[in-house]
Amino acid sequence: RQLHSTQFLTSAQLYKQCPPDEGREVAFAGRSNAGKSSALNRLCSQKTLARTSKTPGRTQLLNFFDVAEDRRLVDLPGYGYAKVGAQTRQQWQKELDGYLSQRQSLAGLILLMDVRHPLKDFDHMLLDWGAKAEMPLHVLLTKADKLSYGAAKTTLMNVRKALKDHPGPLSLQLFSSTSGLGLEEAWDLIGQWLEL
Ligand code: GTP
Ligand code: MG
Repeated sequence: RQLHSTQFLTSAQLYKQCPPDEGREVAFAGRSNAGKSSALNRLCSQKTLARTSKTPGRTQLLNFFDVAEDRRLVDLPGYGYAKVGAQTRQQWQKELDGYLSQRQSLAGLILLMDVRHPLKDFDHMLLDWGAKAEMPLHVLLTKADKLSYGAAKTTLMNVRKALKDHPGPLSLQLFSSTSGLGLEEAWDLIGQWLEL
């Protein structure tokens, strides 16, 4: 698979520290604990890829991974991270806004939501931003293994219904980093966005 040789590139605390804005990249966003790092690792078939960039107690803002030349995945900060103060969180919000509004190479945004807790405030904020920016969005309803397949399907249908008036390109799927459910579908989409 094309994502299997992905390597950690760099972490940026500030928007201006991001690598050159060239080529194409796909960013992973979602509330803290939604399963972003786990999804990245599973998609790239590497157990510790996303963890290597984590400094305990001082998580960086944006983590960049090289998929191929000028093709990147980006782990965005989770909202609601409990271990940092309000001031740090505000700073992150500012940098995240900067990233989302300025990044030319951003080809699409993957929004991860725990299938048991979809469509919280942060998710709506990103969905609204995506609509305004005309940014393609793809929702992964993660940890689908935590529900029965029927219950997970029902949630997928309900979230799809709730988002049916979303004006921009938007797709949704179930995903589990544990069971591998939805891997193919996510791979295909990321491959398209990155033009791999
Ligand atoms: P932050 O970096 O804090 O924003 O969190 P994150 O979104 O990167 O979440 P992370 O991948 O660290 O996962 C959070 C917890 O959920 C961990 O304990 C994972 O093991 C667990 N988890 C993630 N994905 C899955 C999944 O598909 N199934 C199950 N059962 N657990 C999962
Ligand atoms: Mg993480």
